[in-house]
Amino acid sequence: MTGYKEVYEDWRNAPNAFWLRQAEAIDWIQPPKTGLSKNSDGVHEWFADATVNTCWNAVDRHVEAGNGNRTAIIYDSPVTDTIEHISFTDLQSRTARLAGALAQRGITKGDRVVIYMPMVPEALVAMLACARIGAIHSVVFGGFAANELATRLDDCTPKAVLAASCGIEPTHVVHYKPLLDQAIELAICKPEFCLILQREQERATLVEGRDFDWFDAQKDAEPVACVPVEGTHPAYILYTSGTTGNPKGVVRPTGGQLVALSWSMRNIYNVQPGDVFWAASDVGWVVGHSYICYGPLINGNTTILYEGKPIGTPDAGAFWRVISEHKVKSFFTAPTAFRAVKRADPRGELLKDYDLSALELVFLAGERADPATVEWAEEKTGKPVIDHWWQTETSWSIAANPAGIELLPIKPGSPTVPMPGYEIAILDEAGQILPPGSLGAIAIKLPLPPSCFTTVWNAHERFEKSYLESFPGYYETGDAGMIDDDGYLYIMARTDDVINVAGHRLSTGAIEEVIADHPDVAECAVIGAADALKGQIPVALYCVNEGVSRDPSEVVSELVQMVRDRIGPVAAFRQATPVDRLPKTRSGKILRATMVKIADGQPFKVPATIDDPAILDEVTAALASLGYPRLQEALEPDAAISS
Ligand code: COA
Ligand code: AMP
Repeated sequence: MTGYKEVYEDWRNAPNAFWLRQAEAIDWIQPPKTGLSKNSDGVHEWFADATVNTCWNAVDRHVEAGNGNRTAIIYDSPVTDTIEHISFTDLQSRTARLAGALAQRGITKGDRVVIYMPMVPEALVAMLACARIGAIHSVVFGGFAANELATRLDDCTPKAVLAASCGIEPTHVVHYKPLLDQAIELAICKPEFCLILQREQERATLVEGRDFDWFDAQKDAEPVACVPVEGTHPAYILYTSGTTGNPKGVVRPTGGQLVALSWSMRNIYNVQPGDVFWAASDVGWVVGHSYICYGPLINGNTTILYEGKPIGTPDAGAFWRVISEHKVKSFFTAPTAFRAVKRADPRGELLKDYDLSALELVFLAGERADPATVEWAEEKTGKPVIDHWWQTETSWSIAANPAGIELLPIKPGSPTVPMPGYEIAILDEAGQILPPGSLGAIAIKLPLPPSCFTTVWNAHERFEKSYLESFPGYYETGDAGMIDDDGYLYIMARTDDVINVAGHRLSTGAIEEVIADHPDVAECAVIGAADALKGQIPVALYCVNEGVSRDPSEVVSELVQMVRDRIGPVAAFRQATPVDRLPKTRSGKILRATMVKIADGQPFKVPATIDDPAILDEVTAALASLGYPRLQEALEPDAAISS
């Protein structure tokens, strides 16, 4: 039997041949002859000489193969009390009809379409309909504010927006349509038209001449066939947080996505066509793109579209109910979700009501999987709990435990080993490779494998500057960590200002930009403090302008509201405290990493370059007023990474 080592060596010895072989799992219109090539920007690309269609591979080919009656999507929505099974045949006709309506209104290959929808089947239909006609979709997560949506509209200049009237959170209805209207008002780029899915829970007011009812717009539309696109054609743009307030539009190449996701379904998640796969995430994140929509459908799996939460819809047994009711074989969630379940039902009492016998594997990603959570999940479910590490930029695992090839021994705290396609190096600041056991920046030797991004939308220079400049010949992941003597990788921290809040990637720089806009604020710093439920939580320290003597609690509530209004509730920003001064180096750099250590109660060295060490006492007192350091129930302290 071929094990992980053989497969990895097979790739390493002949990467091109390896990926061309994996490409045979895809239905190409023009099959690729060359795997890897370089484009005019000097960037490596995969399958540039091929033509293909993603929707064909995710939907139509399964119908053609006689599997049209198989369930493609199970929509399980405890918040609307709905369970719906959608077959591949049904999905094909819904997708072809919506694609027809878009084509009828002038959307063609290469046009951008923004999708702003909650977890409803129409969101997947919308993504696939775009893919069907070669339109480039950009899904925006519902927890973002109108301002964030406007930024994305202006960056990708969509001809159309596909949206729903509302989303449903356990405690409230999210008014998508007013947020969309506000975003269009704010944006310079106005879409030509919007299709609005009117949900029972809230009917939106449509703007005459611009907005059309989702189903009315499709009444006269003819279903359309799949349009061939080049292997390098952008399948989608997905915005993700970087160091600044401007999100980066990660561009996903079509051919690479098909090949890599298809490989990952079988070799990492160990599912075969017909098996039920569930990624409990949201279509607004990369997990939703790769493993709610494209990956499982390309592989002929049934995908679960869950509109609910791990707890509160109705209780902490929700995961176990869905797994047992739909016979999920492979399950993927974020550690924060398990922490929420564990907190609500530490002894796993609710689990006893359900039969998990169909479940074989549990996968975790999105943030560091703390060993306590991994061990709890393993003990309660009795299944292997596999941590794996990846990013929006890559769309699939850089490091994982390839259960479809061979389940390697699990070491809690490690996402296991590099996947074929990725040669990982731990580098020091000068870009020198560090030996096993040393902590450093995690970089990936170029070229990146299929499906990884090849540019940032509208900002190729940003792609090069943000990812390729620091370590020539490598992609800089922005994560820091180490590799042990067995070749296992450990992800310890970010090297930039990105934080991870409940598995959601956020930029502290973006939050700082909002806070700095408050008329009373002179300067500020936002740090990610360890949180027992969400992994990290943003905390702001700010200095007020000379002469401001307002009650700090008033200022704090205004700051909280500003962040909600401009970034969105997903930032979970609730904590801020005034300080007289921020700790800085003599050259004026704010010592955020030192403040994080104070907040987390970790030992730290007073930086030699600090301007005035006495400020650290003030910061310690300010953070103590917010209750930091807090008792860490579930998290272990991260390794010390200096900034
Ligand atoms: N649309 C609109 N608003 C949303 C939203 C969405 N899709 N998702 C979250 N929000 C809002 C919530 O309503 C909440 O708003 P509030 O402050 O008005 O209450 C806010 O954003 C924060 O939400 P959330 O991060 O879900 O925190 P929570 O405290 O409500 O729940 C968890 C905590 C752990 C249960 C929840 O974060 C969770 O399920 N996490 C899983 C994360 C995940 O799957 N990540 C994907 C990466 S793999
Ligand atoms: P996103 O692009 O939103 O998927 O976020 C990617 C970032 O989340 C990574 O760069 C890491 O910082 C973090 N991350 C994702 N998966 C893991 C993991 N398994 N362990 C540690 N950190 C992770």
